[in-house]
Amino acid sequence: MDKCEIKKKNLAIIGLSWGDEGKGKFVDYFSQKADVVVRYQGGNNAGHTVVCNGKKYKFHLIPSGAVLEKEIVIANGVVIDPRVLLEEIALLEKNGKKVNLKISSTAHVIFPFHKVLDGLEEESKLDLAAGTTRRGIGPTYSDKASRWGIRMHDLIHPDILKMKLMKLIPIKEKIIQVFNPTYKIDFDSIYQEYLEYGRKLKPYIVDTAPYLNKLIDEGRKIIFEGAQGTLLGIDHGMYPYGTSSNANALGIPPGTGISPKKLGKIIGIMKAYTSRVGGGVLPTELMDDVGDQIRKQGNEYGTTTGRPRRVGWVDLFNIKYSIMLNGVDFLAITLLDALQGINPVKICTHYELNGTPLEHWPIHPEIIEKCVPIYKEFKGWDVKTPEEWSKIATRGYSSLPSEMREYIEFIEKKLETKIALISIGPSREDTICLIDDLF
Ligand code: IMP
Repeated sequence: MDKCEIKKKNLAIIGLSWGDEGKGKFVDYFSQKADVVVRYQGGNNAGHTVVCNGKKYKFHLIPSGAVLEKEIVIANGVVIDPRVLLEEIALLEKNGKKVNLKISSTAHVIFPFHKVLDGLEEESKLDLAAGTTRRGIGPTYSDKASRWGIRMHDLIHPDILKMKLMKLIPIKEKIIQVFNPTYKIDFDSIYQEYLEYGRKLKPYIVDTAPYLNKLIDEGRKIIFEGAQGTLLGIDHGMYPYGTSSNANALGIPPGTGISPKKLGKIIGIMKAYTSRVGGGVLPTELMDDVGDQIRKQGNEYGTTTGRPRRVGWVDLFNIKYSIMLNGVDFLAITLLDALQGINPVKICTHYELNGTPLEHWPIHPEIIEKCVPIYKEFKGWDVKTPEEWSKIATRGYSSLPSEMREYIEFIEKKLETKIALISIGPSREDTICLIDDLF
């Protein structure tokens, strides 16, 4: 098999903004044709909602392809809270789903003290706080980078786990005591609890890098499921108001052990408007009734934390930046139905700083804060019932309201990237696909 053929077999599904773009729906959509679905970064800070046969599944850690009983892999770039993982495995099994899972032996493990530290660090950061999910994500990645993290491999080797925890726990206790002088970490209960997790998860733990490379060499079709969104990425997002991993396609090679040469197509998922949870400047944010209406119609409440999301007009300036970073081949646009009944609707095309248009998204929050978003207005589209939107999806693109088509076509032109998929409802069926044989 030549290399081009290998390349075509893989698909990365990436959020282009601040997460919650609807990636889970497209992972589910494409998973039907995939052999394997892989998560490569983040942890249970993510929240993926998949609607399958009328049933809603919410996952934080397990790749969304699990609903279709696909082979699923949690690769080395992910940080794992074993308790959450076991709960999600149990949920799938309870719903009669076969769990065909591999977990990387080199993925790092989240401990309770990471969660405590996440909260304490957030409170100390004041206006630099990202508004984390407090799932211990940042402190676990910090330990990984400081080279005293504990990996899945260690959980299945009691001696290694004990040796590492004996070094780590006293240090973590001292650090937490800076904030809370009476805080104690009970070594024995953590050791026993995590040994038990190791025992339960052992059947799934392997070195996933050679495993995934073998699958690629065999020509199996792989989906890389991004979590969070590009603008939250640690290296190329709006630091420090983001997460602690590369929440974009750039994170795939280090997060899996797969060479960049072997990656396939990249599909960027964007919402018809903007949403985010947590801190940091959001130039197109709507703090008015229109914002409330979008939040309500788009059900913009965090899957992980239940927090109301901040919403605003779609920002093509930062999406253009994300397209560049990821090397996006095609776009999927979601939640167009959630803008129904709003008139006019606006699209941010670029920013101006001191009256001068900027060439590209300025990335630094301190600069973004001083920028003025520039908008183009469009006529909105009418309210329809979910059933009417579903019917329109079945009939195809030409059945969409003309105002919506104008909105979509402007976005495609401005971003110079083909829109392959349009989503006008939560179910797999509420999708219009404009390109055949995408995957
Ligand atoms: P952390 O990933 O919990 O450390 O949170 C860091 C930032 O990323 C915060 O602003 C969170 O609200 C945001 N974040 C983390 N995960 C998600 C997600 O899945 N969707 C949207 N925002 C997220």
